[in-house]
Amino acid sequence: MSDDTAKFEINGKTVILPVLKGTDGPDVVDIRKLYAEADVFTYDPSFTSTASCESKITFIDGDKGVLLHRGYPIAELAEQSSFLEVCYLLLHGELPTAPQFAQFEQNIIYHTMLHEQFDRFFQGFRRDAHPMAIMTGAVGALSAFYHDSTNVNDPEQRMISAHRMIAKMPTIAARAFKYFRGQPFVYPRNDLSYAENFLRMCFSVPAEDWKPNPVLTNAMDRIFILHADHEQNASTSTVRLAGSSGANPFACIAAGIASLWGPKHGGANEECLNMLAEIGTVDRIPEFVQGVKDRRYMLMGFGHRVYKNYDPRATVMQKTCHEVLKEVGAENDPLLQVAIELEKVALSDPFFIDRKLYPNVDFYSGITLRALGFPAEMFTVLFALARTVGWIAQWKEMIEDPSQKIGRPRQIYTGEGPRTYATIDKR
Ligand code: CMC
Repeated sequence: MSDDTAKFEINGKTVILPVLKGTDGPDVVDIRKLYAEADVFTYDPSFTSTASCESKITFIDGDKGVLLHRGYPIAELAEQSSFLEVCYLLLHGELPTAPQFAQFEQNIIYHTMLHEQFDRFFQGFRRDAHPMAIMTGAVGALSAFYHDSTNVNDPEQRMISAHRMIAKMPTIAARAFKYFRGQPFVYPRNDLSYAENFLRMCFSVPAEDWKPNPVLTNAMDRIFILHADHEQNASTSTVRLAGSSGANPFACIAAGIASLWGPKHGGANEECLNMLAEIGTVDRIPEFVQGVKDRRYMLMGFGHRVYKNYDPRATVMQKTCHEVLKEVGAENDPLLQVAIELEKVALSDPFFIDRKLYPNVDFYSGITLRALGFPAEMFTVLFALARTVGWIAQWKEMIEDPSQKIGRPRQIYTGEGPRTYATIDKR
């Protein structure tokens, strides 16, 4: 906080507004009393200049390409930590000690099973339902099964629902995948790590158990870390806004999943792979890039609202992509060749340079996930699985903020003025 103020003059009134300072990042003009004192609203429909909350969880410096979780750089976490440790860090604010981690891991691992009746819920979906459609419905339905942890005012229930969601999301995601594939559900196993358990629930079949591969399991875990949280993006803001009314956490996370699904957000990884497949060969890149410049389509996996530099997650993702492709013997994957060349062409083209468009986390994630054995329809589901911890940490932080109120944006009304109703025979 600071003693700085901003002077705002309008309609003959002068309002002195406090200027808030965070640990890092731009100063923030606190406009909360503006309407009461000057009778005006501010206008920022896509939140390009608006801080919607105070948070201690994640920091991004988009110009420098920096992403920190509770102060730790994403590259260090991706290299040295594990997804469950990052979950603990996001939820609790500090890295766990060994006993704290053992307790946390136990809590998660022993909550991975779903209520048996929950499985019947999947049968109601059409066999060809998109796994994200299943996720949106199934996660919302958790509140119907676990209402003993939906009292948002009880800190213990909040933590139980956080653990339940982190634990059960892989089981739901794997079931969405199995249903989509037409294969029987695989139950979780408590002797496996978080990523191993998830991969086994996806790829094991009754005829053949899944064989662990440390390179692929580590890659999966790292991909989860890269997607764990990302400050106040569209889906996180959706979760916070839904939760600001006091809605239960399962319903709020379902709202976040719906927001994530869009192609400009979490759906970009699926769209990006489809785009690379459509380009198909390196020689077609110039024609594709021209189409982007002619505004016929977007270069998916490029650009970001906050990063005006290389997305630090993309650097780790690119490395992981090479490791996975090497491990599965797909180093010559034509889509990887297209991606590498497309990135090179775009990064040297004034259209992308002038607009500060760089690869984001989704540029290489599709190729990597495909090499791990997932179809494109599952990519956003994996993003949702990993982002659940970020959503729930941000939701908890909001509920625990004593100044929290229901979110209620205002508008600039440009419709008709008051008019008199005319009966249908007079129109
Ligand atoms: N391809 C072509 N042009 C682009 C792209 C792109 N991917 N991204 C932005 N632009 C252009 C845009 O048309 C605009 O041009 P102009 O100023 O001439 O009108 C300029 O760059 C600035 O873009 P913007 O629309 O103001 O940027 P934004 O902050 O509103 O949008 C974005 C950010 C991520 C929605 C956008 O870059 C985009 O749609 N990218 C493709 C989808 C994608 O990869 N999304 C994943 C984001 S990372 C994962 C996640 O966190 O969800």
